[in-house]
Amino acid sequence: MAARGEFSSRMAFVLAASGSAIGLGNIWGFPIKVASNGGGAFVFTYVVLTFLLAYPILMAELVIGRHAKSDTVASLVKISSRKSRPLAFLTGYWGILTASLILGFYAIVAGWMIAFGLASAADLIGANAQSEWLTGFSLNRNLTFVAVFYLLTIGIVANGVTAGIEKWSTRLMPMLIVLILALIAYIGTQNGAAEGWRVYLQPDFSRVLNPDLLISALGQAFFSLSLGVGTMMVYGSYISKSENLPKLGATVAAIDIGIAFMAGLLVIPAMYVAQANGVTIYNESGALIDSDGLIFTVLPALFETMGGTGIVVSLLFFILMTIAAITSSISMLEVPVAHAQESLGLARKKAAWVVGLVIMAVSVVIVFNFGVLFGWVIDLTTKYSEPLIGILFCVFAGWIWKRNELLQELQQGKPDVENSFFWKVWPAYVKVVCPLIVLMVFMHSFGLLNV
Ligand code: PFF
Repeated sequence: MAARGEFSSRMAFVLAASGSAIGLGNIWGFPIKVASNGGGAFVFTYVVLTFLLAYPILMAELVIGRHAKSDTVASLVKISSRKSRPLAFLTGYWGILTASLILGFYAIVAGWMIAFGLASAADLIGANAQSEWLTGFSLNRNLTFVAVFYLLTIGIVANGVTAGIEKWSTRLMPMLIVLILALIAYIGTQNGAAEGWRVYLQPDFSRVLNPDLLISALGQAFFSLSLGVGTMMVYGSYISKSENLPKLGATVAAIDIGIAFMAGLLVIPAMYVAQANGVTIYNESGALIDSDGLIFTVLPALFETMGGTGIVVSLLFFILMTIAAITSSISMLEVPVAHAQESLGLARKKAAWVVGLVIMAVSVVIVFNFGVLFGWVIDLTTKYSEPLIGILFCVFAGWIWKRNELLQELQQGKPDVENSFFWKVWPAYVKVVCPLIVLMVFMHSFGLLNV
């Protein structure tokens, strides 16, 4: 068997894992959810749930992955007893299916990012008709850019996660952050922005326990950190044994929340600025008019206020968004591809192309049935599958895996971990508290638990 890949440095892992975590979920998904769930209350609940649940589960995935050094199914099998093996298969394959379905809808939105980037380029050279086609919602446009996005994703995964993407991420992710900060500063000069910031930052605590808000925030916390599908387990399997896992995990979680928070500081005021400029955002009943298209409406409206510069800023923004989407999509595709390669014995290139094209077929089906399937697949995967699989990962880390093996794994890279706060709290926490919280959120959202 070929030697398994390993990240070349700590920085490479942090970048790859942050690249997976930071993506459309932060800049497209998070602000939409904030806007549809009453602003600050959602932000508050999301941050609390990330600390309470997402970080501990991220750690479960990383530590299992690094211990087993295999694809997700094989990793879970490796830490199982004979009796729990069926559960390992069920959990592993459910994760693979979920990662694939997530890629199914993600590629569609990522395709829009590419199209909007090209539209700005078309605007630059005065190709108005082309620009209109690129920004209009048509079957052909959607299909074209789904295909383009898959070619990019498959091309990278087929070659392994190369130094190329590591290097790209180092340079381009900071650029995205700088651009968002600059845009936040700019938006502060516009009418309506202050109202947006107020809505974003002032939680209405009476809404915090709203069942829809809770389940939505739970899903967002998992989705944003790429949890509950096995991505972080696979990435964990490529981490060197000399790394301190709790610290690495905390770094990735902090970067991810930070970027989502910043994206909200930009997009929510952008909505109010757009509204002040006459763009309709909410309908009479107070619901967002076009939630999926929110940032494709309000950000271009903002760029327009900048005149000629706006076209360049828009081009840059959508290029960076496309890159953020690719560093996430490669991590999704890596889950089934690692399995096809390691457990089923396919060559890497072949695995990437076969699996990638099958998942592309899923995206095509969604594009043809957009109205029915798009939202449904998002809800199914992010609101339900990811948290439930996350809990199964906790069951593996807390109940199934032998505690001394878990401790030994963590001691590699942090020999004194036994005396740390992390070791005193985390094992019991993932064993009991995490599953209970998720269960309570589910029961509450189904009306079975009234608080
Ligand atoms: N975390 C990514 C984002 O916020 O855009 C989405 C994601 C990546 C979800 C990888 C799941 C995954 F396995």
